Amino acid sequence: MRKIVAGNWKMHKDRDEVSAFIAALKNVPVPTDVEVVIAPPFPFLAAAAEQAAGSLITVAAQNCHQKSHGAYTGEVSAPMLKSIGVKACIVGHSERRQYFGETDEAVGEKIAALLEQGITPIYCCGELKEDRVGGKHFEVVAAQMKAALGALTNDQLKRIVIAYEPVWAIGTGLTATAQQAQEMHAHIRTLLATHGADVAAHVPILYGGSCKPDNAAELFANPDVNGGLIGGAALDINQFSELIRIAGAQ
Ligand code: PGA
Repeated sequence: MRKIVAGNWKMHKDRDEVSAFIAALKNVPVPTDVEVVIAPPFPFLAAAAEQAAGSLITVAAQNCHQKSHGAYTGEVSAPMLKSIGVKACIVGHSERRQYFGETDEAVGEKIAALLEQGITPIYCCGELKEDRVGGKHFEVVAAQMKAALGALTNDQLKRIVIAYEPVWAIGTGLTATAQQAQEMHAHIRTLLATHGADVAAHVPILYGGSCKPDNAAELFANPDVNGGLIGGAALDINQFSELIRIAGAQ
């Protein structure tokens, strides 16, 4: 399966920094079977999609609203993203869940809205620290997936990307060990297989949470880890390029 190296820039970088990063990224060799994704903040998506057109870089949004239009001040819809050439969108990130009250149900609706526009949802799931300490991590992730993905058809499921992001590892410098990541990714793959072997075989499962050049090789080498959703290390062109190179070497 292809490997994906996706940069979630969160609320970082201004217009000039975005364009300088993309200009530099266009010169980075992309190994065969590696897909490179960047998710800049909303105001720069249109320019980023234009600048990346014709390159191997996929431009993603970090969120969208589930409705196509309406009186939802401050929100951005999937058709709007489509109209500016955005090809993927992160949904259900733990920061959206924690700070903006995003529920699994809303995430499910966002995924459906994105698929309707032909935009690839990058669906984030992952347990809190107390879930892991209490040994509930497998059941928490299973419940998240059921709530957000349960209504999708197999054809729809095959068009999504999953990112497993243990919340305790995001931006903390703590990383899941390669074994913890592989175990959870295998669990997610097994859950997908209940919908059909073809679904399980199709859906890339990315790891996210303090993934960086010095731990990526170990993480990406696992059979069920198909790349990474990267926060901090994706903001730096040298570290991001190194992650792309490492993904290609696995
Ligand atoms: P991090 O963030 O790599 O900075 O831990 C990952 C994410 O939130 O997607």
